[in-house]
Amino acid sequence: MGKVTAVLGLQWGDEAKGKMVDYLSEENDIVVRFNGSLNAGHTLYVDGQKYVFRMLPCGMLHKHTIGVVANGVMVNTNVLIEEIKSLGLGPERVFVSDNAFLVLPIHKEVDIFRETGKKDFKIGTTKNGIGPSFEDKVRRYGVRLVELQPSNKINLENKLMNITYNYWIKELGYGKNPINQISHTDLEIMVKELINELHEQYEFLKPYLCNTALFLNDRINKGDNVLFEAAQGALLDVDFGSYPFVTSSNCTIGAVSTGSGVPATKIDRVIGVTKSYTTRVGNGPFPTEILETSEEAEIIRKTGNEFGTVTGRPRRVGWLDVPLLNYACMINGVTELVMTKFDVLQNIPQAKVCIGYNSRMNNIGTPQEVMYKNPAPYYVELSTSYIEKYLTLLSRYVDAPITMYSLGPERENLHHRTQT
Ligand code: IMP
Ligand code: MG
Repeated sequence: MGKVTAVLGLQWGDEAKGKMVDYLSEENDIVVRFNGSLNAGHTLYVDGQKYVFRMLPCGMLHKHTIGVVANGVMVNTNVLIEEIKSLGLGPERVFVSDNAFLVLPIHKEVDIFRETGKKDFKIGTTKNGIGPSFEDKVRRYGVRLVELQPSNKINLENKLMNITYNYWIKELGYGKNPINQISHTDLEIMVKELINELHEQYEFLKPYLCNTALFLNDRINKGDNVLFEAAQGALLDVDFGSYPFVTSSNCTIGAVSTGSGVPATKIDRVIGVTKSYTTRVGNGPFPTEILETSEEAEIIRKTGNEFGTVTGRPRRVGWLDVPLLNYACMINGVTELVMTKFDVLQNIPQAKVCIGYNSRMNNIGTPQEVMYKNPAPYYVELSTSYIEKYLTLLSRYVDAPITMYSLGPERENLHHRTQT
């Protein structure tokens, strides 16, 4: 049996998981994306060059690894094809689940409409159409890659007509006023054009498609080591995060199994990744947030380059939140904890750490408590001069063993702790 490892984010995404995945890819044969979509942007710096991955697993940068895009990933065919082509990858290197669903241009349009329109309730999404595409999946109108085969054309046309009608006419209000007149024929033409494009893309993708659940289980049984690379983080999980300010899929350990067909009983290691501070993009509660205009926030944002990979938005920044971290470790069953970007925190000689809500006695918190009870963070201040000393002190409050930390963006800036 091969070993199965999962790398998961423990905060609101952007924990620098990409670096961990890149490092662990050395000892793995297959790297798998199982959740999220192109809302995730994994950035890697190798030999001074910057790489951004949005659809493919970033562990693909190693020449020996096979990349899998499993069924839990919402696939944007344009971006997937672009990434495969730009890295020059053949079908022997990339396996894409034919069961994966598509995020369509209309999904993006409606996401943008909701986020920029007059509505007073906004999530602050990445505007890539992720929410609407998952809505269609759940209402059983989602389009899977396997449905793009030409023999399925009539079914596909009916589905796309329904999806387009649902959003264009009902939600966006096209056809309801003289400026936005759109006839049934216009809709049909649009759908036909989309189908032609999707059929062309299907021809390109066909050699890459398979049932990845069968593929992965078979390879694990034959001894291959497999690494699961998560998008986003526990606090953005649609079930366990700060709902409704979350993404539309699961980002916690259960998603490894539902998003790939590799059962929970096969997972050997669960590596949780946290920054030494906290960031969040988009709206929603953030108990340890530092006032945006304060000097400390400026220092962290600038030195940590805390701007969205996908959207370029400045990220909100705050102190490490141990109660939420402990919650994320519990939900995920984290066996090893990695702390990234300590070099950034070192620009602040005395850093605050929230070790409880309301009092230090309470060192586990929940996103629901944060949403509805507005708890006051209880802080301690720790000197950031010596990393080992800092981590030893921090370990008193954190429920999982901190085994690694990083002091910069390059591969060689990742360090193992000598004792935990
Ligand atoms: P959506 O996933 O684009 O629908 O966005 C929903 C929420 O999740 C927003 O607050 C986004 O900023 C956040 N989000 C989605 N993907 C990421 C990510 O990869 N990193 C950080 N935040 C993300
Ligand atoms: Mg990111």
